Amino acid sequence: MKKIMLGLAALSLLFVACQDEVNDSFNEDQTSQIEVDMSDFYVFTDDFTSLTKAANSDERVCYSMKVLNEKLLANPGLEKKMYDVEKHTRQAISFKGKPTNPGGGGGGTDPTPYTGTVTIPVIVNILEDPAHPVTQAHIDSQIDVLNDDYNNNNSHTSGVPAEFAGVVADANITFTLAGVVRKASTKTSWGTNDAMKYSSQGGIDATDPTTYLNIWVCEIGGGILGYAQFPGGTLATDGVVIGSDYFGENVAGGVYGHGRTATHEVGHWLNLRHIWGDGRCKQDDFVADTPSSDRANYGCPTYPTVHCQSADMTMNYMDYVYDDCMYMFTNGQNDRMRALFATGGARESFVN
Ligand code: ARG
Ligand code: ZN
Ligand code: CA
Repeated sequence: MKKIMLGLAALSLLFVACQDEVNDSFNEDQTSQIEVDMSDFYVFTDDFTSLTKAANSDERVCYSMKVLNEKLLANPGLEKKMYDVEKHTRQAISFKGKPTNPGGGGGGTDPTPYTGTVTIPVIVNILEDPAHPVTQAHIDSQIDVLNDDYNNNNSHTSGVPAEFAGVVADANITFTLAGVVRKASTKTSWGTNDAMKYSSQGGIDATDPTTYLNIWVCEIGGGILGYAQFPGGTLATDGVVIGSDYFGENVAGGVYGHGRTATHEVGHWLNLRHIWGDGRCKQDDFVADTPSSDRANYGCPTYPTVHCQSADMTMNYMDYVYDDCMYMFTNGQNDRMRALFATGGARESFVN
């Protein structure tokens, strides 16, 4: 009987597109039956090799997306893995607030985005170029900035315009320094091919990425501030890479010397897309409470900066503005990040 009902529920999905109240009477063992609309999902983004940097020197491309495109091409299974992560994320979010949500709390068998405190132990892997020293003060200040930003303690938060004040998130994610690994290196441009993540290539091997966030600090070169790997990728390369001058409070980094590159890249590591969806107005970041836009913003934009007929949330960590001009995540972004820590989530091992 149950089987037939589920079959009918599944069948009815074929006729009702884009709806989220698929099955009012689901219970825990029906978790896998909750269907979500995946029709707008994409992983490949714009071909960065064809992008030319504009005269505006602030213009930048995010190497996290370029690296993602390359990895998708090199690894045929990755697209499916990322599809599954996305599907799980959407299912978890669609369970939120459902009356039959079993338990209601975080962790355990709750399929909704994890609601408890998340603590992320961080291993900082430094490929030390003597010309770009990374001091303990840089490290400590970077951990502080991550904790400020992921707990809505950014000192610039008063700059959030009234229009967005209602969606500002306290992600309640705590970062702790679990270890520092240093290795001398005179390499001045590691690039974005992950060599810094392998001792066999002169880098430093990751420390168990299922329970640690690995941050590699090195001279990336090419004016690149940092790049990240999205959830679902190869374990050995899981983590983020930050250019030495842009790590922590760092005078060498100038307008990018206040630790927000790590905040942005860790956002990718926690499955956040760029706020403009890396495409046109209709291309989304898969977050409902961030406004649509068709471009990145640079420098320190004034409010309102309007694209796609609405004000851009330029002060979001997932835009491209100067460090001091980004100071918020949204509740929708927080749900996406926290879905990773729910039962079956890609980063569940950090909380269980
Ligand atoms: N991956 C981006 C880049 O290299 C990072 C942008 C971070 N933005 C910032 N204000 N720190 O351009
Ligand atoms: Zn980015
Ligand atoms: Ca959005």
